Amino acid sequence: MQLIDGKKISSDILDEISLEVKVLKAAGKKVPHLAAVLVGDDGASQTYVAAKVKACERVGFESTLVRLPRSTSEKELLEKVSELNANSNIDGYIVQMPLPKHINEQKIIESISPEKDVDGFHPQSVGKMALNLPTYLPATPYGIIQLLKRYNIPTEGKHCVVIGRSNIVGSPMSVLMARNSNPGNCTVTLCHSKTINLKEHTLQADIIIIALGRPEFLTANMVKEGAVVIDVGITRVVSTQTKSGFKLLGDVKFDEVAPKCSFITPVPGGVGPMTIASLLMNTLLAVNSKN
Ligand code: GUN
Repeated sequence: MQLIDGKKISSDILDEISLEVKVLKAAGKKVPHLAAVLVGDDGASQTYVAAKVKACERVGFESTLVRLPRSTSEKELLEKVSELNANSNIDGYIVQMPLPKHINEQKIIESISPEKDVDGFHPQSVGKMALNLPTYLPATPYGIIQLLKRYNIPTEGKHCVVIGRSNIVGSPMSVLMARNSNPGNCTVTLCHSKTINLKEHTLQADIIIIALGRPEFLTANMVKEGAVVIDVGITRVVSTQTKSGFKLLGDVKFDEVAPKCSFITPVPGGVGPMTIASLLMNTLLAVNSKN
């Protein structure tokens, strides 16, 4: 069993991006600039956005954090988005989700200029991804693709079972694994809440990608010997074993599943750290596709 070290791969990618920024600077070019819009004071969102800003500093990107109060109206947010679309100094930006209930998230996503949509959430980005055209890939699927690539995990002709069909992880992941590319070329089964006898599917899988948000859902009796298991779940649960009183659990019952696997991602330190690397790769792409 080999552990897939997302923390290390993410750090390697950030180092590679830092080098590219140095090259841009040396050539007298503009440094990539990522902006993030945070509406309200959701604790998890604040943590994620702070991590994104910190990663920008590490690689030498410029970053702007736009903080708006929870009471911001949809119209006001749309105005901010228009402003960011028009600001030629900003190469790419994200609007951190979830948004307060009174704002229509889809409407906001569709108002972001596709050229600056480094989250890859705009329908144009999703459509291009499905057509295997160059575009921004959403952070988590892009990060998983990088892990598979950098660990040289064979995917061609393999049976990949994706569990969960969210717009930001499961659905795009199923598309990417089926595409005629490397990684890719899998036979894909997309399982979800209405799937009957999930175990029958997972036992057939050479690769399982699980993004459910249900701690320790995938157990050893659901996994074939030698499978590759990618765990996207990350749930904070109360724990008496840690000083903080909490621990993070993935969707996989790691201790019993890991011995059966050829490769497995841990939680934390697997897929999680890759999402920031993906966002920065997309921001660099935003700059390079203009040059
Ligand atoms: N909320 C959780 N994940 C993400 C993400 O990748 N992008 C944005 N914008 N919001 C999120």
